[in-house]
Amino acid sequence: MGRYRIYTLILRVLKVASHCYLLPNPSIPGPRGGGFINPDVEHVLASYQQSGRLGLITYTTGFMRIGNLVLENPLILAPMAGITHLPFRRLAREEGCALVVSEMVSANGLVHGSKKTTDLLRSHPSERPLSVQIFGADPEIMKEAAQIVQSAGADLLDINLGCSVRRIIRQRAGVALMREPKRLEAALKGIRSAVTLPLTIKMRTGWEPSGKQAISTARIAEDCGVDAVAIHPRTAVQGFSGTADWSLIARLKDSVSVPVIGNGDIHRPDDVLRMQRQTGCDAVMIGRAAIGNPWIFSQALDLINSTPHREPDLPERLQTVLRYIEYSVEHFGEGRAVLMMRSRVGWFTKGLPHSSRFRTTITSLKTKQDMMDAVRTYFDRLQGTMQPDHQPI
Ligand SMILES: Cc1cc2nc3c(=O)[nH]c(=O)nc-3n(C[C@H](O)[C@H](O)[C@H](O)COP(=O)(O)O)c2cc1C
Repeated sequence: MGRYRIYTLILRVLKVASHCYLLPNPSIPGPRGGGFINPDVEHVLASYQQSGRLGLITYTTGFMRIGNLVLENPLILAPMAGITHLPFRRLAREEGCALVVSEMVSANGLVHGSKKTTDLLRSHPSERPLSVQIFGADPEIMKEAAQIVQSAGADLLDINLGCSVRRIIRQRAGVALMREPKRLEAALKGIRSAVTLPLTIKMRTGWEPSGKQAISTARIAEDCGVDAVAIHPRTAVQGFSGTADWSLIARLKDSVSVPVIGNGDIHRPDDVLRMQRQTGCDAVMIGRAAIGNPWIFSQALDLINSTPHREPDLPERLQTVLRYIEYSVEHFGEGRAVLMMRSRVGWFTKGLPHSSRFRTTITSLKTKQDMMDAVRTYFDRLQGTMQPDHQPI
């Protein structure tokens, strides 16, 4: 066994020990002394203390710690630009995921005070804890942006090392940072010294398929004081093609002592258990499968807790869509929200009977009321078709 593996093993034993001692007592500040623990989690922890279930038992029931932030379960909503805005994140939290991540936010935009960028930091108590992801290339700007994110009240800061869109790579940001370890190190050290927030990175495999770059990037991050690493194991050139190489998640888990968050190709709730079993990852991050399907979180939680698997029925689907419209109007204002809902409401009816006709109907709607009425009518008729002797809709 090499010296590095022994070192990693010792760190892991210490990590488990620190969970045992720190987790049951929220009044003890986390390793970086930030002092904040989400009130919901405090509540859960308090009930565990009352029930006398301490130490290792708590650790093995699915709690996870990132810096001083304790997550109530191992499910995380992935950051998705143009998708994981506040209304969408609220739905995911309602279905039980433990942490939501913002869309990626430009460090430059924040530092230069762009209103559009700063608006991405808006949050709502019901979605907390919230991780805000920033992307950038200049260590000084990223450090300043990190301070802005902390001042805005985020619970966690994530650094984007995975975006492979050409526009971002041209700026030397996203996955481009994975091939500039010195600059990455400077950025992470600067950010770590400037904020007390729990800090994570989200990366890809890197620029070649071996995974060596991901492992060295994670080690640099760990040395700089990053509290957890998330990996979507596809290369920069792969985009979304092929399949995610979960074996790299397992290798990463053996290579660093901070928690590892696995991501990529979770299509169904049972994939969560499969990824955990195959890789030993500490948490699972779900992206595309949650689009129009926040129930994947409650279904995966049911599996984790060995409770019966549940499909959302029509009334539940309807209420979720109505809440999505409500939250969107609250957040974006009616005009913009209705425009967005014209394409997004259809995500939630995909696969249901007559969904494509319904999607065509809503493309011309102009008000919140019209949108709500159309959704209610569609679901009422759908409910009717499920009864005997229904009329076609
Ligand atoms: C539309 C879309 C937007 C995305 N935007 C981001 C982003 O802003 N930041 C990021 O780190 N990853 C982003 N990703 C990648 C996802 O977070 C995730 O890594 C990827 O989709 C793989 O996970 P999945 O198979 O569960 O979807 C995006 C993915 C999609 C499909």
